Amino acid sequence: MKQRKNNNLSVFVVVFSVFLFGIFMYNEDVQSMAEFPFSWPTSPEAAQDPDPTTTEVVEVEEVEGDDDDLDDVELPPEDCDLYNGQWVFDNETHPLYEEEKCEFLTAQVTCMRNGRKDSMYQNWRWQPRDCSLPKFKARLLLKKLRNKRLMFVGDSLNRNQWESMICLVQSVIPPGRKSLNKNGSLAVFRIEDYNATVEFYWAPFLVESNSDDPTMHSILNRIIMPESIDKHGANWKNVDYLIFNTYIWWMNTFAMKVLARIFR
Ligand SMILES: *[C@@H]1O[C@H](CO)[C@@H](O)[C@H](O)[C@H]1NC(C)=O
Ligand SMILES: *[C@@H]1O[C@H](CO)[C@@H](O)[C@H](O)[C@H]1NC(C)=O
Ligand SMILES: *[C@@H]1O[C@H](CO)[C@@H](O)[C@H](O)[C@H]1NC(C)=O
Repeated sequence: MKQRKNNNLSVFVVVFSVFLFGIFMYNEDVQSMAEFPFSWPTSPEAAQDPDPTTTEVVEVEEVEGDDDDLDDVELPPEDCDLYNGQWVFDNETHPLYEEEKCEFLTAQVTCMRNGRKDSMYQNWRWQPRDCSLPKFKARLLLKKLRNKRLMFVGDSLNRNQWESMICLVQSVIPPGRKSLNKNGSLAVFRIEDYNATVEFYWAPFLVESNSDDPTMHSILNRIIMPESIDKHGANWKNVDYLIFNTYIWWMNTFAMKVLARIFR
């Protein structure tokens, strides 16, 4: 290949890059998982907390008792390997929230409403071998989030985590003091009394790509710009807590095009 230096024009060259992993890992499941159609609640009203006068009493009691000793959290020892352990069946303390009591879930993740017959999958809890994870306390989390922003960034896997996080905390927030608003790739769950937000930002490759539209991203020809992080990064600048994930989208087509800057 002829070496050229400093072409005065910035030349962007499209390079075809075959992902070997894709070849091995590609299958229908992976593809359908990544491309599963996703829709936000249809109207802004649907996403809002319903009118407090028409809402059944929110089940605050359940959680209140648990949170009495807010700061009484026993953290696992720092040298405990949290990744070494197993899933255990625990229907005493799990699930931590119930699907039908969380109005913020999107249709994609309401397994029971979508017809799933068994519910025992909700009763599993991760148990590290050498220590225990602290019990989740919604109020404690809110207290830690006061005047802060928590943001999940990534693909639908992180979006699921984000929805779960909302459901984990929303039951201790009175009606009318919480809201969910979506604007493009950013979705913001707001907790008024704590001036806190739990947000999700859609960026399936983290870097800029042609799959960045939060709803229309079933694209056959994936193109990523591996050097372009600023466009998305501007949205998570100054966020207090960030949770990133990107994974399955790198494997769901055989090949991916990489828009690379070869000459500078
Ligand atoms: C937990 O599961 C066991 C075994 O399936 C069952 O006998 C018990 O009633 C369940 N307890 C609760 C609280 O659901
Ligand atoms: C609310 O939280 C934001 C950060 O999300 C912070 O910049 C702002 O100062 C807070 N407002 C008050 C009144 O504390
Ligand atoms: C949506 O986001 C854009 C770009 O960040 C902003 O200009 C616009 O005001 C936002 N719209 C609403 C309704 O918040």
